[in-house]
Amino acid sequence: YNHVYGKGKWQDFDPKDLLLSYNALKVLEARYLLKDPNTLRYIETPQMLFRRVSRFLASVERKYGKSEDEVKYLEEKFYEMISNLKFMPNSPTLMNSETRLGILSACFVIPVKDAMTTPEGDGIYDALRATALVHQQGGGTGFDFSELRPKGDVVASTAGVASGPVSFMKVFDASTDVIKQGGKRRGANMGVMHVWHADIEDFIRAKTGQLKDVQLQNFNISVGAYDYFMEAVEKGESVPLINPRKTKISGTDHEYYISKARGYMNEEWIQEVILSELEEKGGVVPLDESKIITVDEALVIASKEGAIVKYINARSLFNEIVKGAWDSGDPGLLFIDTINRRHPVWYLGKINATNPCGEEPLLPWESCNLGSINLEKFVIEKDGKPTIDWDGLAEVIQYAVRFLDNVIDANRYPLKQIEEATKRTRKVGLGVMGLARMLIKLGIPYDSVDAVYLSYQLAKFIFYHAYKASIEIAKEKGSFPAYDSKLYRDIWESAMSFDSILQISGIVGSEPSDYVRKLSSVVDKLDFDELKSKRLKYGLRNSTVVSIAPTGTISIIAGTSSSIEPLFALAFVRNVAVGKFIEIDPLFLEYLRKYELDDPEVIQKIAETGIIGENIFMPKSLRKLFRTAHEVSPIYHVLHQAVWQQWNDSGTSKTINLRSEEPPETVEKVYLLAWKLGIKGITVYRDKSKQQQVIYFGVKK
Ligand code: CDP
Repeated sequence: YNHVYGKGKWQDFDPKDLLLSYNALKVLEARYLLKDPNTLRYIETPQMLFRRVSRFLASVERKYGKSEDEVKYLEEKFYEMISNLKFMPNSPTLMNSETRLGILSACFVIPVKDAMTTPEGDGIYDALRATALVHQQGGGTGFDFSELRPKGDVVASTAGVASGPVSFMKVFDASTDVIKQGGKRRGANMGVMHVWHADIEDFIRAKTGQLKDVQLQNFNISVGAYDYFMEAVEKGESVPLINPRKTKISGTDHEYYISKARGYMNEEWIQEVILSELEEKGGVVPLDESKIITVDEALVIASKEGAIVKYINARSLFNEIVKGAWDSGDPGLLFIDTINRRHPVWYLGKINATNPCGEEPLLPWESCNLGSINLEKFVIEKDGKPTIDWDGLAEVIQYAVRFLDNVIDANRYPLKQIEEATKRTRKVGLGVMGLARMLIKLGIPYDSVDAVYLSYQLAKFIFYHAYKASIEIAKEKGSFPAYDSKLYRDIWESAMSFDSILQISGIVGSEPSDYVRKLSSVVDKLDFDELKSKRLKYGLRNSTVVSIAPTGTISIIAGTSSSIEPLFALAFVRNVAVGKFIEIDPLFLEYLRKYELDDPEVIQKIAETGIIGENIFMPKSLRKLFRTAHEVSPIYHVLHQAVWQQWNDSGTSKTINLRSEEPPETVEKVYLLAWKLGIKGITVYRDKSKQQQVIYFGVKK
């Protein structure tokens, strides 16, 4: 059609819509394009959607005194990168821009205190209400349930018996079921319990064994693991389990107490706290120095208070975690010490939880909006060979950060606490998608040292330019309110080198090739010290700038592979009402054509399994280049996650996909290695270990 009906009149059809794949159009039609509430007719096309989003986020600039021409210029810049599928904001921004529902962020962390309700609004049922409001508009929520008293403990007011955190989680789960995120997508939650909690064993078993596919279906669950615990696992030592109610110190103080009791604050950290002049900082809640005690002192107090319920062997607890993850994918681990050590605004308090997929470790009530760059679009031809358009990438990063920063101003927050916490730190999360396809186009197999090296370089480049953009915006609009130039922690100063990552992983004798070194040599010239002096001079607009999200839906809209994941399947059979269709990865099809292998019978055969790794009739180079998620060895999954985490001030969402025949020992190795490589959170998924697998490849029905 040359014309489409929209906004009450016929509009010219925009040929840019032809960039969108069939699946992208289906997704946009089902959940994103606005409809007239009365007639239920669509009132926009995909381009109108992209225009609506760009216009809305550019309009924020008026508040900062920009002229109409400048606003228009930015709108065009935003529109250009979104409509060319080079950048895509997270789903809530696409869905809710300029609409009555105003939440534009995907990630929230909500505190849960050990009371039904509190005057501050952070009791269990206050949290439930907050969660409902966030889910209603398409946001995902994370919680730390470790403050709640354990099962069987006393409830003084009613002389009753406490149900424990896992029971309350079921209430959150049921509520999530009912709300279904505005009818547009399944609700998502992250439930965290710290490893010292008396109910930790119940928590670990909450989604495995007989409860698999039954309980807490709207939750990912993760154990909050500390360094002291991981060390005790390695040494086979015992660790105490604690009843949080039995300590005299409550609320935030209690958190510090527990964390110190568990060896949470290392010496360097304590020094920093003591030496800093936190009291002078306006708007910043200082850590209370007087609460700093040694681990041994804390344990003596806890023991006197009767707060230690029992001691348990760390190794057997860890084995339980591993068994659960092997059996059902849950629980994952969050490395609480790593998260806090590498939290740029560590002086605002301790992070205890993340959003559902783990890419956003957040303080209580904080929210974060995400957006991702489509790396595939930055592979260009030069002298007949594929290469990376680094300049183009730097430009998109610059506008993407401005876009995401504007989201914070354009957002309509469901609760005052969320607005305050979010505006205090102005966290944004710029991530990527299409890594796997970029690598294929460059001829680099995902499971190779070259691919991991290029990931490392890309992560460094993106972080550098995102941070630079945030400094530029600060120059113009001011720093985030809780910015403290002295206390702010530059995370790159603790980034592991590529060589040490290989060494810790036990990969010896493999070096990145000259090809990838040359391809990414521009990254070696980046001057971080110079950038730091700029930050000290001009400030920083956002306390975090980068975050690697799963891009579950936006990668479909952009028509690329998701996040930093390898391809999932090369071809598969989709069953729909009118019959079966074979869906084939278009990039793979291109290669089949090159080798004159695009025969329907060949494709049909490939679609039965989705992979070609074992197919000896396929060219060897193709089999290497197109290895899918379950064929890639676990260590390469972990390595990619580790290198992206080094240059990331938030978290990195990644699924370590395992073949169904992998033994539990593989999960154990993956979890231990993740901790050693400075990963903030880790999840495995063993093929066929759950009924509800989002995508099945090679479906034969
Ligand atoms: O691709 P899209 O922007 O839709 O989302 P994603 O990158 O797959 O997920 C980003 C975040 O959105 C998740 O970590 C959750 O916080 C949230 N989310 C959610 O709340 N509900 C879902 N069904 C999917 C994602």
